[in-house]
Amino acid sequence: MPENIVFSAIKPTNLPTIGNYIGAIKNMVAMQETYNCLYSVADLHCITVNMEPAKLRSNTLDMFSLYVACGIDTEKSILFVQSHVSAHAELTWILNCFTQFGEAKRMTQFKEKSKKNPDNINVGLFDYPVLMAADILLYGASLVPVGKDQKQHVELARTIAERFNNRYTPTFEVPEPVLPTKGAAKIGSLADPTAKMGKTDENASGTVFILDTPDEIMRKFKRAVTDSGHEIISHPDKPGISNLINIYCAFTSKSVADTEKEFEGRDYAYFKEKVGEAVIESLLPIQKRYKEIRADKRLLDELMINGAQKADRIARRTLDKVYRKIGFCRV
Ligand code: TRP
Repeated sequence: MPENIVFSAIKPTNLPTIGNYIGAIKNMVAMQETYNCLYSVADLHCITVNMEPAKLRSNTLDMFSLYVACGIDTEKSILFVQSHVSAHAELTWILNCFTQFGEAKRMTQFKEKSKKNPDNINVGLFDYPVLMAADILLYGASLVPVGKDQKQHVELARTIAERFNNRYTPTFEVPEPVLPTKGAAKIGSLADPTAKMGKTDENASGTVFILDTPDEIMRKFKRAVTDSGHEIISHPDKPGISNLINIYCAFTSKSVADTEKEFEGRDYAYFKEKVGEAVIESLLPIQKRYKEIRADKRLLDELMINGAQKADRIARRTLDKVYRKIGFCRV
């Protein structure tokens, strides 16, 4: 049995929130213990929306540094920038020819983004999931940790892989989405706890970013929306406090029951401050490492080149196999 390969990527459109950290990045770090992992900064995926070149460039370096600061081990795993490995773009063209127009048109994210941005429904937006399929299939990944919103895209990658395998001979590993475990706390916005803590929220006060300063973090927690009543208990009627309890538990590894007990008789203001402190304290070492890496241009270049070379070697091999099966002349 070959070892399972894990592939995942994060788009550097915006920098990750503490919700992304708890729901995705922590799990990507943990998976390194058990699997061969490849993680990417998906810059190619960013340009389906208008993005300022300087922002794309700095966000890519920020995201790469942040991966390392959060614990992605560049010796153990392959960490790279997507556009550094040209096979992603090349395989996308091939896979386009194995994707039905109707299949791509049915993607929920395409439909939603088209509705939200009616004046820029570009072909790249339509093709976005095929590029994602190329990302995954190039490396023979069988496991793809993603959020719920990306599950459908991984399923399309499965369909494409199976179609190619059936048309020729088994070529691609058929990947499976790995969703955040049911128990894993879903982090809601501090401004509207029933909504997801979004990277692009208009309501910036509801979103805590991993790289927010301690002051910003504390200010956001102090302003967090709470519920009527005064007890610190997790309950469906108390979405605000329940969300804060989830965040506290995620950052302190304490249980909900222990947390409720710990804050018995305390008021909301006190609790909010303690949640802020817990988050600030856990993020501090990450932020410190982040600053060191991000400032070290030589180290960053070296890590990016290394990652790209390792990824390229695997990706080229897959692409070559695909080209041969299709019938392209190889010289
Ligand atoms: N589209 C994913 C997102 O928005 C990011 C991504 C790009 C990805 N390529 C991928 C995720 C391949 C998993 C596998 O979150």
